[in-house]
Amino acid sequence: MLRLANVDCHYGAVRVLEDLSFELAAGEVLGLLGRNGAGKTTALKAIMGLLPPRSGSIVCDGAELTGLKAHEIPRLGIAYVPQGRRLFAELSVEENLRMGLLARQTGDDVLARVQEMFPVLTERRGQRGGTLSGGEQQMLAMARALCLDPKLLLLDEPSEGLMPRMVDEVLRTVTAMKAQGVAVLLVEQKVDAALAVADRIAFLENGRLRQQASPAELAADPEPLHRYVGVRR
Ligand SMILES: Nc1ncnc2c1ncn2[C@@H]1O[C@H](COP(=O)(O)OP(=O)(O)O)[C@@H](O)[C@H]1O
Ligand SMILES: [Mg+2]
Repeated sequence: MLRLANVDCHYGAVRVLEDLSFELAAGEVLGLLGRNGAGKTTALKAIMGLLPPRSGSIVCDGAELTGLKAHEIPRLGIAYVPQGRRLFAELSVEENLRMGLLARQTGDDVLARVQEMFPVLTERRGQRGGTLSGGEQQMLAMARALCLDPKLLLLDEPSEGLMPRMVDEVLRTVTAMKAQGVAVLLVEQKVDAALAVADRIAFLENGRLRQQASPAELAADPEPLHRYVGVRR
C-alpha cells in the first residue's frame, strides 16, 4: 500500500530524513518509534506533501506522491491526523466531520459509518469542537480523518496527553481500521501503546531507519526499545 524508497528531506540546509525506506501493507499497522527530534513527524509530512523530499520515492497504491501538491494527496485516500490534532474549534462536531467528507466527496453513508464507530460524537454532534475534552477532540480528529474513507491512515502521537481510558479508545479505533484493511502508520512516544496494536515496529534515529522488529521479537529482546526510545524493561 505504501512504499518509501531512499527518501531524503531537508529543512533548509539541515537534512532531517536520510535514505528512509520502508513498506506498509494494506491491513497492517506499522509503529514508528524514536526519540524526540528523530524525524517521525517529518516522515509523515513528507508523505502528505507538506515537506517535499529532495530525493527518493513515495508510492501509495501505485501512485507516486512526490511531486503532488499537498491538497491532492488526501484525494487519493490518504488521511492524516497531525500531532496535537487541529480541529476547527469554532465549528460543531458535525461540521468538523462534514469538512472531512469534502476532500474526497465521500457521502453520508461514510459519515454514518464513522459516527457508529464514535457514539460519543453522535451525542455531541451540535457541540463546538473546541469545547470537547482532550480525549474527545482526539476522537473527533480521528473521526474526521476517517470521513475520507482512507486506505492509508497516518497518526502522529494520537495518545499524547490522553487518559488511559481514552488511549484505549484510540487503540481500539486503530484495530478497527486495520480490520477494514486500512494501512495504518502510527507514530508513538508511548511504547506500550504502539506494541499493543502494531504488527511491526520501525525505529527511527537521526532521520534514519535503524531497525524493524515485531512486538514478539521485542518481547524476547527489548534492547532496541532501550537504544532507540530510551525505554528500559
Ligand atoms: N519547521 C522546521 N524547521 C526546521 N527544523 C525543523 C522543523 N520541524 C522539525 N525540525 C527539525 O527536524 C528534526 C526532526 O523533527 P521531527 O520530525 O518533528 O521529529 P519527531 O517528530 O521525531 O520528534 C528535528 O531536529 C527538528 O528540530
Ligand atoms: Mg513529532
